[in-house]
Amino acid sequence: MNRMLKKCLFLAGGYGTRFLPATKSMPKEMLPILNKPLIQYGVEEAVEAGLHEIAIVTGRGKRAIEDHFDLNIELQNKLKETGRADTVEALESLIDSCSIAYTRQREMLGTGHAVLTGRVIIGDSPFAVVLSDDLCLNPDKGVLRQLVEVYQRHECCVVAVQEIPGELSNRYGVIDGLLQTDGTYLVHNLVEKPEPQETPSNLGIVGRYILTPEIFDELERTLPGYGGEIQLTDALGVLARTSKVVACRFTGVRFDCGSLPGFVDATNYCYQQE
Ligand code: G1P
Repeated sequence: MNRMLKKCLFLAGGYGTRFLPATKSMPKEMLPILNKPLIQYGVEEAVEAGLHEIAIVTGRGKRAIEDHFDLNIELQNKLKETGRADTVEALESLIDSCSIAYTRQREMLGTGHAVLTGRVIIGDSPFAVVLSDDLCLNPDKGVLRQLVEVYQRHECCVVAVQEIPGELSNRYGVIDGLLQTDGTYLVHNLVEKPEPQETPSNLGIVGRYILTPEIFDELERTLPGYGGEIQLTDALGVLARTSKVVACRFTGVRFDCGSLPGFVDATNYCYQQE
């Protein structure tokens, strides 16, 4: 196995039903926080972490993502003529700084199934995973960079966690872990969306992971779990018992942009930072 971390997999196949009708013909990953689509925040975070090989699992109706990360010569010429080229400069240099490969998930069978769909691009390397619904911001050190540093110390799967209110445990994957001297948790078990009375802790998983390629064989064996879907959390639970999984309580803010209140909070937060 190549131990160098260079790849970052984005799971962007999901429907975005909570944002209908806006997401009827537009990918939820293209919804903007201010003037930037959610997925661009994620790609910027990946590149900041040194992950320049981007892989995106898409699905039906997601072509706008590919167009966004491509050149638009007509628009560029128009912007040059009108002296407004600066409006797309940051995006253009982002596109220049990475390679992007796409593959399609034909059926939405869960987060684990989406990761497995990315195997064809990832191959036999460790890789990061981003669920771009989760907007994570830290101007000093992005959350992916924090996870990469933990991976470099431990060379195993790493999940990002944050403290969550006990009553919301059934919206998250939750870890059961032991605090280590470096501030990370050695994970013993992970449970997808436990009810508050059964949650093993108040540390919920946020949509940022570093995975080693052994996850793929584990996902192949994983049976449908919560919601009848193949859950990444369940495959990680097996690796926590048979191999090693570490959780990193990151610093920074995180917004659940897959929900309307989280999306509005993220918009207000970013507007105040302008
Ligand atoms: C997914 C994961 C869950 C994680 C969450 C973070 O759930 O399955 O473990 O805590 O993302 O946003 P989803 O929100 O897709 O239902």
